[in-house]
Amino acid sequence: QRDLVRRGRLSDDRTGEVMHFLSSMAADHEIADMDVLVDMAHLLMLSRQGIIDRAAAEALMRALLGFHRDGIPAEAYDERFEDIHAGKEAVLIGQVGEAFGGRLHMARSRNDEVATCIRMRLRDDLIALVEETCRLRGLLLDLAGEHTETIMPGFTHLQHAQPTTLAHHLLAYEAALGRDCGRLLGAYGRANECPLGAAAFASTGFAIDREMTAALLGFERPMGNSMDAVSTRDFALEALSACAVQMATVSRLCEEMVVWSTAFVRFVTLADGYSSTSSIMPQKKNPDTAEIMRAKAGTVAGSLVAALTITKGLPMSYNRDLQELTPHLWRGVEAAHQSLGVLRGMLATATFHPDRMAAESGCGFSTATELADVLVREYGLPFRTAHSIVGRAVKMGALDLTTLEAAAQEVAGLSLCGQGLTAERVAAALDPAFSVAERKAIGGPAPSETTRAIAERRRLL
Ligand code: ARG
Repeated sequence: QRDLVRRGRLSDDRTGEVMHFLSSMAADHEIADMDVLVDMAHLLMLSRQGIIDRAAAEALMRALLGFHRDGIPAEAYDERFEDIHAGKEAVLIGQVGEAFGGRLHMARSRNDEVATCIRMRLRDDLIALVEETCRLRGLLLDLAGEHTETIMPGFTHLQHAQPTTLAHHLLAYEAALGRDCGRLLGAYGRANECPLGAAAFASTGFAIDREMTAALLGFERPMGNSMDAVSTRDFALEALSACAVQMATVSRLCEEMVVWSTAFVRFVTLADGYSSTSSIMPQKKNPDTAEIMRAKAGTVAGSLVAALTITKGLPMSYNRDLQELTPHLWRGVEAAHQSLGVLRGMLATATFHPDRMAAESGCGFSTATELADVLVREYGLPFRTAHSIVGRAVKMGALDLTTLEAAAQEVAGLSLCGQGLTAERVAAALDPAFSVAERKAIGGPAPSETTRAIAERRRLL
């Protein structure tokens, strides 16, 4: 069977190489099922509007119902067709004859057809992504609930900074994933408008009903401008951008799992099921799952950049360049979707080590900030003066009553001991648990605050 779209205007002497180069068939598997639904909606509308007669409509609908039930016949996927739209039309005409089959493409073009298919498929993908993200957020909230009292070091510049809790750390990721859901849903809303009926770009002179096809295919509304409808892929850029932002966050969590599972840190042990070993070093247990996921962030960002670069500078309206964009959309969305599921499994099966976290939580003078705050609260010092005193004491090599007193004399010419500072008070201020418990402002790590935050986030979820 020939590609009937070419029959009138072009000879058929194309090399296989060129056919392969031009055909979107490999990627069209992703939208083929949607295309059958688009055909059905279009056909129902043509029939309701009296644009196609009953006999042709019935024959076509019977054939389309067969495609819906059993799949589109394999020959429609041959690369001699430019795409599944042309392949499916040729097969339909083969089944019901050109007198009937040749009428389905009235009042439309492949340009509006493909844009409609991509939006429908992307809607499903975005819903699946939001669902998967919400499952991951639920797990993070469960884990946070188990670890509101698990004191651990917090880092800036990857240096011990101030004590926090594992719950606080996990809640930080849950917050970012919550915003990711917002971005994905925003992309969904803008993808959910129907291009069908825009035809090549200039709409059509047939008396079509775009409201009807949009409603049948579950869209919020028909797109308002027929040139925009076939030209834009901004909804795809937006979806990829949401995925790329989300994967940037996911990759940070993965990086932390890699670092935390090292022998230096040992904050976590990943399950064997998410680890690999070495073909030469028999002792090795490597966090490959987290590493592959860290890299997927690059894959998704690459898909976004490819898609952006393809659309940049394209004149109105449809250009074939747009075909080259679509596989990047599926690749990026799929990589993000896979990653979210695997990440949830990796975290659900990981063993955290509160003992190691506790042991590290006071290291690197990480409670120095709280000590300075105590000097401010209890001795009325300006914060900058207290900051300098504690910093000078650290420089002396220890934080205790002796160094603090010496530092206070040096920096400010005052005696803290003279005002009643004792070794016990210093020791109490240096306790990581005290530092955490004091931080009960909104968003802080104090167990009372993270417990409140978990309940609030659960409500939002
Ligand atoms: N395969 C094409 C795509 O993915 C469908 C639209 C083809 N339109 C055209 N004028 N050749 O974009």
